[in-house]
Amino acid sequence: MAQGKRLRVAVVGAGGIADSHRAAYQAHHHDVDLVAAADIDESRAVAFCAGTEHAKPYRDLGSLLAEQEPDLVSICTPPGLHVEQTKVALASGAWVWCEKPPCRSLAEYDEMAAAERDGGPYVSFVYQQRSGSGAAHFRDLLARGQLGRPLVAHCQTTWFRDADYYAVPWRGRWETEGGGPAMGHGIHQMDLLLHLLGDWAEVRAMTARLVHDVETEDVSTALVRFESGVLGTVVNSVVSPDEVSRIRIDCERATAELTHLYGYGNGDWRYTAAPGLGEVDAPVEDVRSSHAAALAPVLAAFRQRRRPPCSGADGRRVLEFVAALYKSACTGLGVRRGEIGPGDAFYRSMAGDPR
Ligand SMILES: NC(=O)c1ccc[n+]([C@@H]2O[C@H](COP(=O)([O-])OP(=O)(O)OC[C@H]3O[C@@H](n4cnc5c(N)ncnc54)[C@H](O)[C@@H]3O)[C@@H](O)[C@H]2O)c1
Repeated sequence: MAQGKRLRVAVVGAGGIADSHRAAYQAHHHDVDLVAAADIDESRAVAFCAGTEHAKPYRDLGSLLAEQEPDLVSICTPPGLHVEQTKVALASGAWVWCEKPPCRSLAEYDEMAAAERDGGPYVSFVYQQRSGSGAAHFRDLLARGQLGRPLVAHCQTTWFRDADYYAVPWRGRWETEGGGPAMGHGIHQMDLLLHLLGDWAEVRAMTARLVHDVETEDVSTALVRFESGVLGTVVNSVVSPDEVSRIRIDCERATAELTHLYGYGNGDWRYTAAPGLGEVDAPVEDVRSSHAAALAPVLAAFRQRRRPPCSGADGRRVLEFVAALYKSACTGLGVRRGEIGPGDAFYRSMAGDPR
């Protein structure tokens, strides 16, 4: 499509998270036109479209793609559907902005990536916790040497979900959700941790099902060594009444700590300098992490026909980390980055399914 024309965008899966996509598109209304939404439950598609200017409801993605020829499709369906719907949308020529977790396995991720074309269409994933200015500020401080070398990290997603939450049929099952809180909830904080600190090298993990009547775990803990030498701990839980999302990174010259729940602004970051050292520089702008903020670089990439962030190797890194976490918990052994390739049971399924 011509530079400058508004993008035609559509949403498939008009459930809970679709509202955040509608809000993100509405925040970028000067650049995009939300033309359609599809849901197998047509009443949901109709209700979703009622909150837009003129989007048309559909019952299935195929008819939406054929009639509307969107430039970009948001995939907001349960994780078990992401791989097929992404491939269908890419085949139609549409770019894809797909909800996390990207899919159920590294094998599915590689299938989706193989359906991309140089210069587009591409599929990128919604890891919106990278999008706040506080994350860019930390990376900038690190690059400018203000923090010194990062040494120790803690990454915590301790949330609370009740039995009603797990009454939704696709949740809590390997086949449809792809994993427990390591996959569905902690993936945001873990992606942010990797975005801040770079490649991980080795993981040692444990998982447990402590409360919920589900197939997957409801708690996981992990130790991680980064390529840089940083040592870290990771906790993902859906059984924690006092809910918090937290990342803490001790560097030589200061400790950085981010404390929030589902999104943060600059005020949620705290820097504590080492004794005798001055304060670190303050950030220049304050952008909250959100779907709207995460959408901006996807739209820019579309205009420039280049690979968006959170796609390809950049989008795969945290999924490989999650696969390693599950493999380590299952085998009782440490798992190194790169060891889960085709032929490994944990390449095909986070449960290590040998099918
Ligand atoms: N980024 C975030 O912060 C965030 C938060 C919550 C959920 N999510 C992710 O968003 C995705 C959806 O989660 P949700 O909570 O909105 O789920 P949901 O169950 O509320 O909504 C899913 C919708 O998909 C529809 N659907 C099912 N099969 C379909 C099909 N074949 N074609 C079209 N529509 C179909 C359902 O009818 C439902 O309306 C999941 O991957 C989830 O992990 C992301």
